[in-house]
Amino acid sequence: MSAYPEEAFDPAWAEAIWGLPGRAPQPTTGEGLYLDYCRNCHGVDALGGVVGKDISDKGYQDAYERVRVGAGLGDPGQRMLYMPAFGTEVISDEELMMITDYIATL
Ligand code: HEC
Repeated sequence: MSAYPEEAFDPAWAEAIWGLPGRAPQPTTGEGLYLDYCRNCHGVDALGGVVGKDISDKGYQDAYERVRVGAGLGDPGQRMLYMPAFGTEVISDEELMMITDYIATL
């Protein structure tokens, strides 16, 4: 993908798109949050998924740092190592607790 020059990118336009009413609402269950934020990489059963990293035995304490800091030094090019950081504005502490409670049921 080629880069967009800064003058071609209007932040108000991006905000209008992200703010559209059709934007998927934040899930309200641990399962819904897990499926939205973690399944793509760790698999629907948390046993590894495409990144091959089993997190089915990981609890809140284990997940906290990884989720807040991410992995792979922020380089999405390292596909098997890259995990984005999720801030509290995306996944709150309470929501992360719901996610790890859900993982414990898998
Ligand atoms: C874009 C892919 C991606 C997403 C999305 C993702 N992860 Fe990860 N995660 C990884 C990768 C890759 C690793 C392994 C990194 C490493 O080995 O350094 C990892 C590692 C972890 C670990 C540490 C596992 C261990 O054995 O030490 C935990 C816990 C974890 N992820 C939890 C989560 C949770 C919870 C979510 C959802 C909020 C999530 N991840 C979303 C890619 C992802």
